[in-house]
Amino acid sequence: MPKTKKNYYINKYAVVDKDVEIGENSKIWHFTHVQSGAVIGRNCILGQNVNIGNNVKVGNFVKIQNNVSIYEGVILEDYVFCGPSMVFTNILDPRSKYPQVGKEFYIPTLIKEGASLGANCTIVCGNTIGKFAFVGAGAVVTKNIPDYALVVGNPAKIIGWISEAGKKLIFDKKGIAHCKKSEKSYKFKNNFVTEI
Ligand SMILES: CC(C)(COP(=O)(O)OP(=O)(O)OC[C@H]1O[C@@H](n2cnc3c(N)ncnc32)[C@H](O)[C@@H]1OP(=O)(O)O)[C@@H](O)C(=O)NCCC(=O)NCCS
Repeated sequence: MPKTKKNYYINKYAVVDKDVEIGENSKIWHFTHVQSGAVIGRNCILGQNVNIGNNVKVGNFVKIQNNVSIYEGVILEDYVFCGPSMVFTNILDPRSKYPQVGKEFYIPTLIKEGASLGANCTIVCGNTIGKFAFVGAGAVVTKNIPDYALVVGNPAKIIGWISEAGKKLIFDKKGIAHCKKSEKSYKFKNNFVTEI
C-alpha cells in the first residue's frame, strides 16, 4: 500500500509498492503494478495491466490505457494520454549479453502537458513530445516532436497541427488559426505553433 492516505481507488488485483505516492481521486485497475518511488498525481486513471516503473513521475489528470509500461526515465506531465498498448523505451541499444541496469543507463523521455500518444505507438527514448502534440496510432517517434504537432507513420512525420482540444488547425494567410472547441487561437511561424 502507498505511503499517502488519500481518497484514491486501488483494485484488489493491483500491486502497489509501499513507498509510492498516489494523488486524490486517482484509480488503479486490475493487474497494474506501481513500483517503488513512483509518484502518481491526482485524478489519474491507470488501466488494466499497466506498469509504473521505479521513481517514475506521473502528473495530474493523466490517462494510461491498458497494457502500457512507463519505464524509469519517462516523465508524464499533466493531462497526458497514453493509448492502449503504446510503448516507451529507456535504453537505446539493449543487449542481453551486456546488461545496462540502473539509472545511469536510462535515457530520459519527456511527454509534455496534454500530449496524446495513440494506440500501439512507440516512443524511442531520448525524445520530447511537445505540449498538446498528437502521435497517431502505430507511429514510431524517433525525434523531438514540437508543441501541437500531429505526427503519424514510421518514422513519425508531421502531417498537421492540432489544438489543445484535439481539433485540426487550419491557418489563414497570416498564419492564424482558431479552435472553437478550446476557444483558443494559435499562430504558425517558423514551423512552430504557439497559442496567442
Ligand atoms: C492521427 C489521427 C488523429 C488522424 O485522424 P484524422 O485527422 O481523421 O486523419 P485522416 O483520417 O483524415 O487521415 C489523414 C491522412 O493520414 C493518414 N493517417 C491517419 N492516421 C494515421 C496513422 N495513425 N498512421 C498512419 N497514417 C495515418 C490517413 O491514411 C490519411 O492519409 P491520406 O491523406 O494519404 O489518405 C488518427 O488517425 C489516429 O491515429 N488517432 C489515434 C486513435 C487512437 O489511438 N486512439 C486511442 C484511444 S482508443
